[in-house]
Amino acid sequence: MNRQLTQASSASPLATHEPMLDTRHGPILYLEDVSVSFDGFKALNQLSLYITTGELRCLIGPNGAGKTTLMDVITGKTRPDSGAVFFGQRIDLLKLDEPAIAQAGICRKFQKPSVFEALTVFENLELALHTNKNPWHSLFFRLTPQQRERIDEVLTTIGLRKHSQHFAGILSHGQKQWLEIGMLLMQEPKVMLVDEPIAGMTQQEIERTAELLLSLQGQQTIVVVEHDMAFIRTIADKVTVLHEGAVLTEGTMDEIHKDPRVIQVYLGAAC
Ligand SMILES: Nc1ncnc2c1ncn2[C@@H]1O[C@H](COP(=O)(O)OP(=O)(O)O)[C@@H](O)[C@H]1O
Ligand SMILES: [Mg+2]
Repeated sequence: MNRQLTQASSASPLATHEPMLDTRHGPILYLEDVSVSFDGFKALNQLSLYITTGELRCLIGPNGAGKTTLMDVITGKTRPDSGAVFFGQRIDLLKLDEPAIAQAGICRKFQKPSVFEALTVFENLELALHTNKNPWHSLFFRLTPQQRERIDEVLTTIGLRKHSQHFAGILSHGQKQWLEIGMLLMQEPKVMLVDEPIAGMTQQEIERTAELLLSLQGQQTIVVVEHDMAFIRTIADKVTVLHEGAVLTEGTMDEIHKDPRVIQVYLGAAC
């Protein structure tokens, strides 16, 4: 079953309070004419962006283009001056605060991995299931067979099955990043925002990360911000190029690579 298409169900402890995510007639993320100013400087300038359910969207753009600000707006960290930001058709993200947006199913992975190094890989995934993030609480919690199965599934997805009983502290940088992606997956997010996932990785780890993200394509809506063009080329279906706080162009990697405006503002400098 496509988990992404599952609506908030009665099984969810939040079901009675959570607005329904409705993606039947349009995008899962809808941003229209969003502007953000910092002391008069427009970090986002009437930006519009539409993300479809199950998509693996790559966001690129030169430094200062507004990529981080865009993620901050989606996750509720920054409030826009104007514009609309919807999650599905019904959930107005501008009416929710940061924790409520996370609870509604928009998860963000920051650049630096933040796993619990003194716990095993398995325990880290187990901890991600709980709303009470105290590790001691987790140690006395009994997993249901379904939860065990889910951890198993995620261990396979992130390629860490044989490390499940190892302490997270001894994992390589790349393995820690995959574990953190796994911890997000445990929460069954409806949208995952991933900021520069391959920074500091070895070539082999980069290839494995590409495989991991591609394996989630279609089941999990993911927005990746990344600078590494070779990596983007491997994973990208649709690429959005940001420039001066707005969308410069969108398309396949080949399309945007040929676009003279992109070459001028971004690729020209990067290649
Ligand atoms: N909190 C802030 N205060 C002032 N200016 C900011 C703030 N955050 C971002 N900016 C500015 O907004 C622009 C866009 O920043 P950012 O979204 O971080 O770009 P990117 O992630 O694409 O490099 C930059 O010029 C940056 O200096
Ligand atoms: Mg940034």
